[in-house]
Amino acid sequence: MIILEAKGLKKNYGGVKALKDGCLKLEKGTVCGLLGANGSGKTTLSKILDGLVSADSGDIFLYGKKVNIRSTKDSKKMGICMVHQNLSLVDQMSVWENINLGHEKKNWKVWLNNKNSIDNARKSLDVLCPGLDPFKKVGALSSADKQLVEIAKAISADPKILILDEPTSSLKFAQVDKLFILIDEMKKRGVSIIFISHRLPEVKRICDYVTVLRNGQTVGEINLREMDSDKHDDSILYLITDKKIERKSDYKKSCATEEVMLESKNLCIRGLLKNVSFKIRKGEIVGISGLQGQGQEELIFALSGFMRLDSGEIWLKDKRTNWKSTKDAVADGVVMVPGDKQKEGLFMDHSVLNNLLYPDYCKKGTRFLFSEKVAGKIAKRIIQKISLTPDDYNLQVNNLSGGNQQKVVLGKWLNQSPNLLLLCDPSKGIDIETRSELLAIFKQMACDGKAILFFSSDNEELVDIADRVLVMFEGSIVEEIPGEGLSNNRLIASSLRVNKNGKKSF
Ligand SMILES: Nc1ncnc2c1ncn2[C@@H]1O[C@H](COP(=O)(O)OP(=O)(O)O)[C@@H](O)[C@H]1O
Ligand SMILES: [Mg+2]
Repeated sequence: MIILEAKGLKKNYGGVKALKDGCLKLEKGTVCGLLGANGSGKTTLSKILDGLVSADSGDIFLYGKKVNIRSTKDSKKMGICMVHQNLSLVDQMSVWENINLGHEKKNWKVWLNNKNSIDNARKSLDVLCPGLDPFKKVGALSSADKQLVEIAKAISADPKILILDEPTSSLKFAQVDKLFILIDEMKKRGVSIIFISHRLPEVKRICDYVTVLRNGQTVGEINLREMDSDKHDDSILYLITDKKIERKSDYKKSCATEEVMLESKNLCIRGLLKNVSFKIRKGEIVGISGLQGQGQEELIFALSGFMRLDSGEIWLKDKRTNWKSTKDAVADGVVMVPGDKQKEGLFMDHSVLNNLLYPDYCKKGTRFLFSEKVAGKIAKRIIQKISLTPDDYNLQVNNLSGGNQQKVVLGKWLNQSPNLLLLCDPSKGIDIETRSELLAIFKQMACDGKAILFFSSDNEELVDIADRVLVMFEGSIVEEIPGEGLSNNRLIASSLRVNKNGKKSF
């Protein structure tokens, strides 16, 4: 029996077409895998079903009846619950308070003594993480435990339809097993589950069928219980990637030289990075790819002096570095452009000018040497280079679009003539037009003699501008793909550890 059906869901964010034609059928007591490359619209489709995002058009049917889901309150009433990719827990509250948040049992007792709520939390934690203290503050938990609490929270609402958005990306194997036991139990009770994951082995283990999204459109459904299981990898990959001819772009001409800018030797951070060694040359753009959370960000953080290594060496040109902080790395000309620019890269309520000149202000002794006129001149020059719109340096960064904010982060470093630029998913959530402007700036910087290490969750970007790509899996570099062999399909297959013949390589 079909319990939930979505038809022709559409959602635009400004100019970004996040979802063009999202369709999905969910049968009672089954697990439906929702698959697709990064940015294909999985989260958007789920959020629409959860009422967190409202669709521009399209229909949703529950038990065959058309419904309007206008808020998460509506969806909860209909028995729909979602576990978010970016967790929605409150760090300052305890585990049990978080689990009960939003569906507290009404009673007149004091909140802190609310025995029912604590029992309820214990019950939902029982299968997933029985040892976890419900009184512990969520802020003190590991990311895996936070993920488990987030799942427990969803379960405690006793949903009829549960949406899990990449629930396993921060979990260890044993925890994944527990989650799957729980999913099986729920299935038996008639709960229907939408399971989003990039990990094909997991998908094949737990899902009854999969629905695949590509560029915001549902492109097909595959029944995993019917066909010969060996054929599933190929047919799923085919739907995810589409075997159209890969586009070649103007950025492809390499500016790489022979001169090594940075060499990393056996970098290790316990549980996060395992013996990562590679070289990056002057003028070269090296991409970093892989499934979410395989150590890509940690590698960038380690190279930027932000995360301490347990062992390993970083050599800049022919000098071994000993950075204690990002400040030391910046002094050596190694700078990072983070994805979360609001948190890590900008002072949002300051002017464009102050943000652009911030690194200069930080340099000892120069803080008071800038006249307004000089500062304005420098800012103007940078603004031209990054084609900031609007091109007014007095504007508060707050008032710029996301893409233009990211240009300010880049501009900030342009004036420092860095040796190595570490890009940490810099164009996430940025519209296509600004994104291609950013790529053009990166390419120009490489051709001006900088080395660029570029982690992106968008394969197309890497295909467009990387000279080669390192693919990471569980903290190690597992494959290096040269520029000539680079394609979206190749990157997805490598990230999933499926080789060219469709055979899994682990
Ligand atoms: N709030 C938002 N504002 C602008 N663009 C967004 C927003 N949310 C998602 N997008 C864009 O919509 C597309 C689909 O995103 P998403 O649904 O998160 O994909 P997935 O979960 O499959 O990776 C992406 O290009 C993403 O950058
Ligand atoms: Mg997503």
